[in-house]
Amino acid sequence: QAILPEGYQLRALRQSDFDTGFLDCLRVLTTVGEITKQQFEDRYAWISRQDGGYFILVIEDTNSSPPRVVGTGALIVERKFIHNLGSVGHIEDIAVAKDQQGKKLGLRIIQALDFVAEKTGCYKTILDCSEANEGFYVKCGFRRAGLEMAHYF
Ligand code: ACO
Repeated sequence: QAILPEGYQLRALRQSDFDTGFLDCLRVLTTVGEITKQQFEDRYAWISRQDGGYFILVIEDTNSSPPRVVGTGALIVERKFIHNLGSVGHIEDIAVAKDQQGKKLGLRIIQALDFVAEKTGCYKTILDCSEANEGFYVKCGFRRAGLEMAHYF
């Protein structure tokens, strides 16, 4: 695996990332809403309690001052009864800041999440994406499988 650009760091999300542009990074993906620091910290605490079930990674650009989160992705590990108590990794909320796209940051995030999934015993990772992103995930080693259904409330 090639390394990240100079001064870029891949790490786990921290409670202090309310102030490093993590939520702005997610805004390239979809609506985030107006989240207060308290709400962010409450959600962060809840996620931290999901012992081995929830991983959020970020890429931080430490060249910028202050350092800024420029990419993120999440892995949720689902523990099943089937497949001999198998685990499946769900990849969610992949986002790279607009001005940072095309530098392989998305690829590195997916590779890192796949690594965590394999280490935690997952036999596969799965995700949903738009047709427009299919090529990206194919480059990350994924292939089309199944069909997403949704029931909105
Ligand atoms: N279609 C086809 N190929 C693509 C696409 C695309 N939409 N995007 C990137 N690629 C290719 C790149 O050209 C590169 O190919 P190469 O190795 O031949 O040079 C390879 O995929 C890796 O690309 P990266 O540079 O790692 O991609 P980037 O860092 O720009 O991240 C991402 C891609 C995450 C899709 C980014 O464009 C983004 O944040 N988009 C907006 C938010 C979004 O759509 N996120 C995904 C939602 S799906 C989900 O979260 C499960």
